[in-house]
Amino acid sequence: MPSNPQNDFPEAFEICQKFDISEEQMREIVHRLTKEINMGLAKDTHPRAVVKCFITYVQDLPTGKERGKYLALDLGGTNFRVLLVTLKSESEINIESKSYAISKDLMEGPGKNLFDFIAECLASYCKEMHIEKENLPLGFTFSFPLQQVGINKGIMITWTKGFKCDGVVGKNVVELLQDAINRRGDLKVRIVAILNDTTGTLMSCAFANRNCRIGLIVGTGTNACYVEKTSNTEMFEGYQTSNKPNMIVNCEMGAFGDNGVLDFVRTSYDRAVDKQSINPKRQTFEKCISGMYLGELVRHVVVELMGKGLLFKGLNSQAIQEMWRFNTSYISDIESDAVGVHRQASMVMDQLGIRTNVEKDLECLRYICQTVSTRSAKLTSCALVCLINKMNSKDCSVGIDGGVYRYHPHYHRLLTENMNMLLKGSAKFELIVSEDGSGRGAALIAAVSA
Ligand code: BGC
Repeated sequence: MPSNPQNDFPEAFEICQKFDISEEQMREIVHRLTKEINMGLAKDTHPRAVVKCFITYVQDLPTGKERGKYLALDLGGTNFRVLLVTLKSESEINIESKSYAISKDLMEGPGKNLFDFIAECLASYCKEMHIEKENLPLGFTFSFPLQQVGINKGIMITWTKGFKCDGVVGKNVVELLQDAINRRGDLKVRIVAILNDTTGTLMSCAFANRNCRIGLIVGTGTNACYVEKTSNTEMFEGYQTSNKPNMIVNCEMGAFGDNGVLDFVRTSYDRAVDKQSINPKRQTFEKCISGMYLGELVRHVVVELMGKGLLFKGLNSQAIQEMWRFNTSYISDIESDAVGVHRQASMVMDQLGIRTNVEKDLECLRYICQTVSTRSAKLTSCALVCLINKMNSKDCSVGIDGGVYRYHPHYHRLLTENMNMLLKGSAKFELIVSEDGSGRGAALIAAVSA
């Protein structure tokens, strides 16, 4: 943080104070989230729970002995990917993949178009790789709230992250994909598993780190999954008789707060961003944490200060006034500059049509970015500590993926510091970047469940 924001830019300081979350508030958030998770797990409260805690039907973590060739699909962010994953040995996993951009029309159009597009990409990829007749097992990483009823059956609950396709909510997504593949008639694959990206991330990390118990995504969206005792997963039919002790639970924790329990830390800026989003009143926690929203929060604060003539005085641009134009990646760029250097900040503002070298303004911009990203990391820390306590873990690894965690220069440190502050030495943990969870993890789940 700058040496003295309160003196240097008091109005910005005052706004940023509203984003500050105290230790006491963090403990309260951990407490409230624990309560919500317990509601999601229990049969009688699950229907009205906001943190759904979906069971994934993944009960075995990888042993490191999984081998074979698998296809994986990854849908959930701005790109859609098809992957061919070959598990060769514990240390050698070969991944080939191709990304396809998903247009806004597809994201907001009829579901049939989206699934036809997915099938088309899959078919063209398989032809390119000459595997279209191999009938390979496929793992489908589908990173949206899904009520799973089996390892390869899941009912879509709601769209998030800018997607809003008609005709999908309430349907079995595996069937929608299988139908789209069948409609083509030129491709043979077996969809053996559907999974969330958090589950893929946990599995991918667990392949090499046997101690991994949590999968976390802080990317376009945010969510976590963890290893629960099967006996606690009341929504699983066989929870009382299962001979498998563990079940990965997909918390869908982005929805935490949708019933108002986070209002005590939310700001007017959060409410403004929520209102303009495609899914108002939904994904409250996610909207304070993830990449889809952080840049927009910063932009709101900046525009307010500019409007009052307190920042970038005399300057304005169409771009800075435009919703969603301030990418979250800019926050990472701006915070990457060394203390006292404002190269990135000035470049970012330049891209947004505001040409300035006024140090104080650029420093203030960095301070706003730090405020918003620090709050994101604090909230994520609360979630991780909640899960560590829930599992009663004394030592575990957390597999993490997503652009915010990967590219923000201080996110890892902020998580570590805040988690240590909350845990007070009661548990040890290791935060590990999970390589390609959505691809590798999908292959591993396909392998484990095959
Ligand atoms: C989705 C989750 C997903 C997360 C991270 C959220 O919007 O609801 O299913 O895991 O984003 O991609």
